[in-house]
Amino acid sequence: MCGIVGYIGPNSATPRLIAGLRKLEYRGYDSSGIALVAPVNGNNEILLRREVGKIDALQRELDTHPLTADATVGIGHTRWATHGVPSVRNAHPHLSRNGRIAVVHNGIIDNYQELRAQLTARGFEFRSETDTEVLAHLIELNSADTLVDSVRAALRHVQGTFGIAVVSADFPDEMIVARRGSPIVIGSNGTETLVASDVAPIVPYTTSVTFLDDGDIAILTPGRFEIRSLSNASVSREPTSVDWDPGAAEKGGFEHFMLKEIFEQPEALENCLRGRLIEADGAAKLSGLRLEPRDIASLSNLVITACGTSYYAGLHGSYAFEQLAGIPARIEQAAEFRYRNPIVSPDTGVIAISQSGETADTLAAVREAARKGALVCSICNVVGSTIAREAGRGIYLHAGPEIGVASTKAFLCQVAVLNMMALLFGRTRRLSNAEGICIVRAMQQLPNLVRSVLAQNDRICAIAEKIAGCTDAFYIGRGYMYPAALEGALKLKEISYLHAEGYHAAELKHGPIALLDEHVPVIACAPSIPGHDKTMGNIQECRARKAPVIVIASEGDESVSAFTEDVIRIPACHEIVAAIPVVVAEQLLAYHVARLRGEPIDQPRNLAKSVTVE
Ligand code: M6R
Repeated sequence: MCGIVGYIGPNSATPRLIAGLRKLEYRGYDSSGIALVAPVNGNNEILLRREVGKIDALQRELDTHPLTADATVGIGHTRWATHGVPSVRNAHPHLSRNGRIAVVHNGIIDNYQELRAQLTARGFEFRSETDTEVLAHLIELNSADTLVDSVRAALRHVQGTFGIAVVSADFPDEMIVARRGSPIVIGSNGTETLVASDVAPIVPYTTSVTFLDDGDIAILTPGRFEIRSLSNASVSREPTSVDWDPGAAEKGGFEHFMLKEIFEQPEALENCLRGRLIEADGAAKLSGLRLEPRDIASLSNLVITACGTSYYAGLHGSYAFEQLAGIPARIEQAAEFRYRNPIVSPDTGVIAISQSGETADTLAAVREAARKGALVCSICNVVGSTIAREAGRGIYLHAGPEIGVASTKAFLCQVAVLNMMALLFGRTRRLSNAEGICIVRAMQQLPNLVRSVLAQNDRICAIAEKIAGCTDAFYIGRGYMYPAALEGALKLKEISYLHAEGYHAAELKHGPIALLDEHVPVIACAPSIPGHDKTMGNIQECRARKAPVIVIASEGDESVSAFTEDVIRIPACHEIVAAIPVVVAEQLLAYHVARLRGEPIDQPRNLAKSVTVE
């Protein structure tokens, strides 16, 4: 949540900051701003531009009121509001009282009210409602001989989370960045140094990036940087080489990132599966887990923890582990896990799932599980992300960058990874070679299963036209189709703003069926896998209440034609993989509904890609 970027080098900072902010816009987009250290009449000053709305609005403001091209040091921010409404005065960067220090911040200062009261008592006047402004004033109040010492002294008073970048007109040749809980990545190509909340703004300059750890503070100068600890000890962090094609984060001719990412899914799955399925052994190889068969055999239960879409992938995973490996597995919402004091022990395996690897509640769940002595592993997409690094062992999705706020290809790859993990555990525990081979072959079909749904894009668009004017919708399914129903409803609501609920097909009659009438469509996930007949009965119940029904069914299943002409087909497949093509149909349906309603699909209101606050 919130994106920060900084540039220090020989070139004009403004276009470089704007380009960086555009790559981080997915993290928040209610307002943005930049601050430059610039020579004005022979003296250095901080120049500021901020605007409400997306980066385009900031660019227009800069076109109208340009800043000097001579400034070669600057910081920028794109905001997802936590404290204070989206407005120019609450937009970052924030300035110190004397206007000579500028700060951008991602995270939350928990004790900001206390700090604000103390600073107010000392004569500081606040211009915003944000927690961040206290930082700018604290740095001024704690002025020392060097900027890094001032920042370090200020941060001693701060409780909460931060990733910050600070520039000062009195120290025009450096920038200070620090991290506790919110990601900070640094890269330098020998002449220019950049900092950002993720690697995307840095890769055009260098593919060698360094992730700060919590408690790190760094001094950036043109072409180099030095990392120390907040207690001023010397720190060494190994750079990571980023295997990232900068073009992968462009729309590539698609109208939206979400559509591009939906259509990338066959390739994303191929990358995710590559080298991990061993057909002859009916097994999976997942070296990042660093688990020997005896480690797997010694686990007595699994807890999967995650938020949002990743939670629904985890629910699927819990079924797969129990089915294939016979190991008790449950899913727990990460915020519940972190505060509920769950029972975990050294023979509990905790699997944290997070596309971004930065979700605050999932990260806290990882720490809680580790504290309780569980064996912790992660399933993340973003390489080098905090959850991936803190879990220590885990599996990367290799889905490529996911820019659209609505998660699509990450979900599919999460399900694929969980299936492979369940297969690995199953082969260690109770699955025969023949059964394993059957699962491997089902998994190998995945890219083509997805292609067959993508080929129905026009048909799905036509179905979307029928429901785009509705105000409510239900998704139903059972077994592996239950998480698929939950995920379908989430996709629809988050990008189309149409109210949608996912229910277990059997649960509908326990209350929600009261809401059904001819205006409330029901999307039934009903491929020909175990549970199909029962779901057909539930569809009958919906039709009896005159609800229009859209069915996602297997090819050749003519029983659905009795209920509706609106059928989306998936090829016949094993139940363990059926959720994947079904969810692709749901993604396209949600996409087209949102497009027909004219909504901003890649950046839906109130949301952010990476939820780094609890
Ligand atoms: O990065 P994570 O997978 O931890 O994110 C978790 C959720 O915030 C995320 O899946 C969210 O629900 C998506 N916007 C759904 O499309």
